[in-house]
Amino acid sequence: MKPPAVLLTGAGKRYDIVSCFARLTRTVVADPSPLAPAQYAAHVRGAVPLVDDPDYIPALQSLCEQHGVGAVLPLTDLDIEILARAREEGRLPALVPSSEVARATYDKYEAHLLLQKHSLPSPPTVLPDADLDGLHYPVMVKPRRGSGARSIHLAQSAMQARFFIDYVAEATMVQRAMNGPELSIDCLGDLDGRCLNAIPRTMLESRGGESIKGEVIHDEELIELGRRTMEALRVSGPATVQVFRDPETGLGITDVNTRFGGAFPAPVYAALPGRTYPELIVRMAAGETLAPHVGEFRSGMTFTRYYWQLELDEQLRPTGRDIVPIPPLAGPPAPR
Ligand SMILES: Nc1ncnc2c1ncn2[C@@H]1O[C@H](COP(=O)(O)OP(=O)(O)O)[C@@H](O)[C@H]1O
Ligand SMILES: [Mg+2]
Repeated sequence: MKPPAVLLTGAGKRYDIVSCFARLTRTVVADPSPLAPAQYAAHVRGAVPLVDDPDYIPALQSLCEQHGVGAVLPLTDLDIEILARAREEGRLPALVPSSEVARATYDKYEAHLLLQKHSLPSPPTVLPDADLDGLHYPVMVKPRRGSGARSIHLAQSAMQARFFIDYVAEATMVQRAMNGPELSIDCLGDLDGRCLNAIPRTMLESRGGESIKGEVIHDEELIELGRRTMEALRVSGPATVQVFRDPETGLGITDVNTRFGGAFPAPVYAALPGRTYPELIVRMAAGETLAPHVGEFRSGMTFTRYYWQLELDEQLRPTGRDIVPIPPLAGPPAPR
């Protein structure tokens, strides 16, 4: 039987994700920008309106009908809640958590309250109208709805915290600055919010909120924290839980993204054969029930990521040309 197609929204620069799905099944991308590079890895490029347009969900619905889509996955934070609502209304087969959890995890202060409610570790966090003089410093002033590490500032005192709260032109919150290494756990939940796997990695280097170098590690405490977080929030689909391991206070969750994390290749490299998250997602889309296998993966491999590009012609069609029009210096390499 032919597997159902997959629809990826807001593909942007995430060529690795789109091309991985495109090897498994028919892959449709919906991105409002004709210059989003990742759409060129898809079989079908769907032009859709912006996510806040009332025609956005109907446009996705018609792509689903046209191409036999069995799973819709958001690749940015922008439409997770909208897709969740559309799933609850029976309009789209979106692989996302409930709209309530999607909304709460998009707002880092709400996320803090939600984590606390479920007894999951979250660093002390307050809103700007709290008694800032009474806090333990340093703190991070962070936008509540930030992403890509935008407008995050370390403040050493209440005076500096007040400055940054005023300086950042959006709603902020104030969170205890964590020490120690930052780590991420890439997880996948099934349609009932059961955690299928949780794969931790180090964050050796990040740029613009995306992890570009890291190593997959087999860390029982992190695997268990990933599983607990996924099941407390009943997350369906992929999610990345970001934590710090503070030498004094232990683990603290600083960010939960209910979509593929920046370092998509890490859990793909780590998965056992047939169990990469895209493969599991295509099987779930086909109606298969999967057995959880939390902690079953290979550790020790490192990923290091880089940019690549496409040439588009006057009609914005990929030319397929590479950037090395220069012939090799001394002909083909000599046989060894
Ligand atoms: N409480 C904190 N203590 C120390 N560093 C932090 C804290 N919160 C965020 N950061 C740093 O800022 C980066 C981005 O913050 P994050 O909360 O993940 O927001 P974003 O949604 O922008 O990814 C993190 O990867 C981390 O390096
Ligand atoms: Mg983050």
